Amino acid sequence: MNRTIVSAAMVIPAALVVSLAFGAMQQSGNQQKVKDASSLDPFMQLKLVHSKDILEGLATEDFEMIAKGAQSLTALSLESSWNVYTTEKYLQQSSDFRQSLKIIKEGAHEKNIDRAALGYLNMTVQCLECHRYLKTTQTTDKNLVK
Ligand code: HEC
Repeated sequence: MNRTIVSAAMVIPAALVVSLAFGAMQQSGNQQKVKDASSLDPFMQLKLVHSKDILEGLATEDFEMIAKGAQSLTALSLESSWNVYTTEKYLQQSSDFRQSLKIIKEGAHEKNIDRAALGYLNMTVQCLECHRYLKTTQTTDKNLVK
């Protein structure tokens, strides 16, 4: 019973962080160019799909779903399409992102929902930090490879 309460206490803030995150992303998108979900870059949009799987897995204590979502995101982050930029900072952000996914996967394998939820919170911070970096860095500072 206690575990369930603790887990809910972890997952609910996580869900809040994510809705805030997506709200912020949408808002900043609106300022630059008007976009709806269908015009998002399909590769980048996959990140949303897999991170929602993790959230669903956390909310329903489906460890397989959590692990699968985290694994899919890890695989995505290792594809060449991920490396839109090749700056040291971007590579560092990507590595931090994968580190948070590792915590999620370990939590799922240990059937430790709290650890997986902590990893998820960390992952969400990494989503935002990388996007913030992209927004605040001058285009000329980025080595655009796409
Ligand atoms: C290491 C950097 C990095 C991390 C971490 C990261 N992203 Fe991104 N994201 C990008 C880049 C680069 C783009 C493409 C931006 C562009 O085209 O200007 C992008 C674009 C997106 C887009 C499409 C936005 C658009 O306007 O088309 C979505 C949605 C998105 N990311 C979601 C996420 C989610 C969800 C996470 C975390 C699970 C995440 N991202 C983590 C770098 C990152």
